[in-house]
Amino acid sequence: MELQETVAALFTLPKGILAMDGSPTTLGKRLAARGIEATEEQRRRYRELLITTPDLHRFISGAIFHEETLRQTLSDGTPFAQAARQRRLLVGLKVDQGLGPSPFHPKEEITRGLGGLRERLRAAKDRWGIRFAKWRGVYRIDRTEGLPTLDDIRIDSFELAQYARVCVEEGVVPIVEPEVLMEGTHSIEESARVHRMVWREVLAQLHQHAVPPEQVVLKASMVVAGSEYEGGPASSEEVAVQTLSALYDTVPDSLGGIAFLSGGQSPEYATANLDAMVRRGPHPWPLSFSFARALHQPVLERWGGNDAFWNEAQEVFLHRAHMAALARLGRYTPACEQNPQAAPCRI
Ligand code: G3H
Repeated sequence: MELQETVAALFTLPKGILAMDGSPTTLGKRLAARGIEATEEQRRRYRELLITTPDLHRFISGAIFHEETLRQTLSDGTPFAQAARQRRLLVGLKVDQGLGPSPFHPKEEITRGLGGLRERLRAAKDRWGIRFAKWRGVYRIDRTEGLPTLDDIRIDSFELAQYARVCVEEGVVPIVEPEVLMEGTHSIEESARVHRMVWREVLAQLHQHAVPPEQVVLKASMVVAGSEYEGGPASSEEVAVQTLSALYDTVPDSLGGIAFLSGGQSPEYATANLDAMVRRGPHPWPLSFSFARALHQPVLERWGGNDAFWNEAQEVFLHRAHMAALARLGRYTPACEQNPQAAPCRI
């Protein structure tokens, strides 16, 4: 399948991309926070709960796995990648290898993982049929510290573009994820300023590396106020205006699509923000979701490691995916949270 067909399949309305690529450390912390033992087996069980949710394909087009998941199987022995494909989901792989110290600032981190990337992509494509990949760069906003530094933005963007170049050469759609963190005391205007700098540099580097924009998915953070901003969170209307205006200023119309991460926003806020952006359309690119926390958080709370709540947790998960899919259609309202089967909320 051609890269653009994969992009089109990932953005099939009203579906989004499920991020379930939390590393053993990150997912381990999230499990432990809910009193669940952070073992490999518990991570496997949790991922099984997600991927075997009945009817998931109605709202989800593809799932991003951590490489640990590719080695794991469902309880019945089916490898995860096969299980996903059987459920009509495209399989994607997080290929960056996490964050390491930056030479530019002690509070900054640089993403690693270019070593052996081509071979890893080839092996995962041949063995597991992966159709897309993901690489996440991280930018922290702290004005008093002068963060993010220009050097960090340049290096991370350069690496994102190198990764994307290798992906397209190997026939794998690159999800390019430059995440500007929500943690911090910054205003929404400050977030918009940093997003513009980051997106401009990332797009310039993709161009320099001759990566066709139509074959790229931008996994974008939303332009929101910092989680500790003294003025509190901005309205969804303001988030939509700030995010869209920064995107229109920096991203070409030909980009394959934009899938937003949730970045620590509550599920309802992230969903309402996406909805507000879609309602302001039509836009030159499809807008979608690729949430992790905004889809998982309530699921983890419901399951709590106790299989007596397995089915209920899957229902909670399908509900969150349903709400996000409604946002893709610009039809989400808070009332749908309570009454998802009411006519205006049905898909
Ligand atoms: O890398 C982060 C995930 O792909 C998105 O996660 O929605 O929790 O920010 P999030």
